[in-house]
Amino acid sequence: MLTSADIRKKFLEFFERNGHTVVKSSSLIPDDPSVLLTTAGMQQFKKYYTGELDAMKDFGTRSTATCQKSFRTSDIDEVGDERHLTFFEMLGNFSFGGYFKKEAITYAYDFLTKEMGLAISYVTIFEGKDDIGVPKDEESRVIWQGLGIPDSKIIEQGMEDVFWGPTGSEGPCGPTTEIYCKNGAGQDIEVWNIVFNQFFFPASREDLESGASGKKLEPLKTPGVDTGMGLERLVMCAQQTSNIFETDLFKKPFGAFMAAPSGVDAKSGRVFADHVRAAMFLIADGVRPSNKGTGYVLRRLMRRGIMHARQLTGENETGGNSLSAGHIRLALESGINFYGEAYSELQINKGNILEVFEEEREKFVKTLDSGFRELNRLHRAGGHMESGAGGGEYKMFGELSGKDAFRIYQSFGFPREVMKDYCEERGARFDDKGFEEEFRKHQDLSKAGAVAKFGGHGLYMKTGEVTIRDASEVEKVTRLHTATHLLHAGLRAVLGPEVRQDGSDITIERTRFDFRFPRKVTSEELVKVEEWVNQIIQKDLKVEWKETDYESAVKEGALGFFRERYPERVKVYSMFEEKSGEFYSKEFCGGPHVTHTAEVGKFKILKEEAVGAGVRRIRGIIEP
Ligand code: ALA
Repeated sequence: MLTSADIRKKFLEFFERNGHTVVKSSSLIPDDPSVLLTTAGMQQFKKYYTGELDAMKDFGTRSTATCQKSFRTSDIDEVGDERHLTFFEMLGNFSFGGYFKKEAITYAYDFLTKEMGLAISYVTIFEGKDDIGVPKDEESRVIWQGLGIPDSKIIEQGMEDVFWGPTGSEGPCGPTTEIYCKNGAGQDIEVWNIVFNQFFFPASREDLESGASGKKLEPLKTPGVDTGMGLERLVMCAQQTSNIFETDLFKKPFGAFMAAPSGVDAKSGRVFADHVRAAMFLIADGVRPSNKGTGYVLRRLMRRGIMHARQLTGENETGGNSLSAGHIRLALESGINFYGEAYSELQINKGNILEVFEEEREKFVKTLDSGFRELNRLHRAGGHMESGAGGGEYKMFGELSGKDAFRIYQSFGFPREVMKDYCEERGARFDDKGFEEEFRKHQDLSKAGAVAKFGGHGLYMKTGEVTIRDASEVEKVTRLHTATHLLHAGLRAVLGPEVRQDGSDITIERTRFDFRFPRKVTSEELVKVEEWVNQIIQKDLKVEWKETDYESAVKEGALGFFRERYPERVKVYSMFEEKSGEFYSKEFCGGPHVTHTAEVGKFKILKEEAVGAGVRRIRGIIEP
């Protein structure tokens, strides 16, 4: 049976034999500011499609192949079932102005059927979409037929499934064809996505689908091919397992650490393995735990991993903590050993990985201990502290009130699921609804307050840090906050899309906006930016927000350069002209904002200066 290492090697060697330059995986932390983490193999090559970079010059060929470290935060809550992962490896071959459909499909067919010995269950092709002027992909159908795939196994699908891109606010895009094979449970799973990058769309995916921007698909400077095949899924098919965690990618390094003792859900072991694996790769690429951006993703992975390690080793509560510490360390060492052969950064950073994880564990265990102490106290007191019910109504802790639960969650960062488990074990009720209500109440307060204190986009600030100000101050800061988004959009309109937000701070007096830009902004340019902002204010654009998941927001072109603490669901604020639907600003942001831009008043730039290498700062005010 082929091992995962054999398959990785086979893939890269196959494409090397066929004229591709094998390129090393890029870091999980991308150069592309419109994404938080690397989610696909094409990310490091985006500029070769748009013509900004020349593949011939950099690789000596027009085609490359990689095994790319990738991470999709959207799946974090799904981990533990048969298929979902956070970190995964993506095999891909790419052509920048070189070969196109015939070769790409033939390579995929040959690799899967001849090299891997797999049967193709069926393939999909693009059904066409008249209003964007992209016809049905008959060319791919004919190529598949020529390879012996019968028409009954060539399935037409639409935009949602088989049209890829653009990512971010603009970029390459095109129809795709996908290949499905059987896993060990006899299920057909998508293994390979072959994208034919043919077009450039100068706006977001949402605009492409809705047609609202009025913009048209343009021919791409360097049309080509971008493919992605999840290594884990391919290994599932090759090793005929019904579950990703039964492949050698997990079994070998983590088998001993995934085993759940009786009474513990088997999911615990899987989540533990996924999170430990993902965390070690993130740490090796330089991510450190924090409450923002990638640091928050890492912290969340580690904390969940630690909870599961405690469950797997029977240290559910205030135990000695040495069993779970050992469990984690040994799992990391085994993981580094196994993956270190393909990814030397793991070996090099072994010390860091062990240290960072252990430090986080110690911190988190303190949090847990304080939380458990408080829960025990409440439990002994018979439940509701606030109501002072001394145990008459409830036998020991009949219910943990939403108020108490939220207080423990908020003051210690104590996980809600752990409180739920605690209650369940004692036959007590956990007041889910009450907790939600408290959560919402505090979020609304924090939204208003966070803006006052932290200068905007404060939805995900810890509520404990917030001070509430009076309504007129909140109103002023809200107007400044909207002005800040427009300043950002104005800078991009005048200086170009390389302007990249580096932070902002809003007080009652002014907004301060930091951004990456390689040179001083001239006074003429500043005037232009100021004029642009005031023109847009006068257009009285509608300001609206919607809640969505991070990946879709990025696909729609939402900007989010500040490294926020990063939740599953994000809010995206848009400013657009009601009549034409044309967008002027779209950003990840907690709000609040004014509802129409005219409420902002007149905007003025006070000052522009450097605050570091390649980082500029602008201070602006609005009329009171
Ligand atoms: N970039 C394409 C994907 O991620 C191949 O599916």
